Amino acid sequence: MPDAPPPTSTVIRPAVSSDLDALVDVLWAVAAEGRWLGAEVPFDREERRRRFADMLSSAAAELLVADAQSADTADIVGFISVQVAGYGVADIGMAILESWRGRGTGRALLASAIEWAARAGAHKVALEVWPDNGPAIGLYRSAGFVEEGRKVAHYRRRDGQLWDSLLMGRPLRPDGRR
Ligand SMILES: CC(C)(COP(=O)(O)OP(=O)(O)OC[C@H]1O[C@@H](n2cnc3c(N)ncnc32)[C@H](O)[C@@H]1OP(=O)(O)O)[C@@H](O)C(=O)NCCC(=O)NCCS
Repeated sequence: MPDAPPPTSTVIRPAVSSDLDALVDVLWAVAAEGRWLGAEVPFDREERRRRFADMLSSAAAELLVADAQSADTADIVGFISVQVAGYGVADIGMAILESWRGRGTGRALLASAIEWAARAGAHKVALEVWPDNGPAIGLYRSAGFVEEGRKVAHYRRRDGQLWDSLLMGRPLRPDGRR
């Protein structure tokens, strides 16, 4: 029988503990690009794994993965994390492997995360993004986020540069619907 063609679409689902190593791998690969995330490589893989594991066991957090499922095997190509603070704002972070971008996976992950945040009772979703991250800003704007401010020369990178970040937010409906 010929080999099955490689998957071209992903399923969005909650992460499970067997995804933890793959999640750290995705974070590492995207951080290694050096221009999109706060995380920089090398980072402490065990510490990151623990942080992801904490999200799995927290009622105030959700970790969703984009799974390209080659045959029956999970194949994590992206994720989004959502954490609701005590004051009701859900903070979001996301990353997708470079080879999987531009196929609607980011939009699907973000929509699922917003739905989860609304169901969890958050009144708003919020995030920070580097001002030159055009793809992410485009995605967030198209999902209803607006720019609320800017942290100036705030984040020190390992090479000593000080980077700005944009603050973006999107209110959720008071009845908990998107
Ligand atoms: C940002 C990111 C999550 C987007 O995911 P994606 O799967 O590539 O995005 P999608 O294919 O779902 O595209 C959704 C929308 O994002 C925007 N977008 C995506 N790629 C873009 C690009 N290269 N340039 C401009 N806008 C882009 C568009 O608005 C697009 O909608 P459209 O296709 O109707 O035009 C992905 O590029 C990524 O993981 N980047 C590296 C990590 C990162 O930047 N994380 C966010 C840190 S704040």
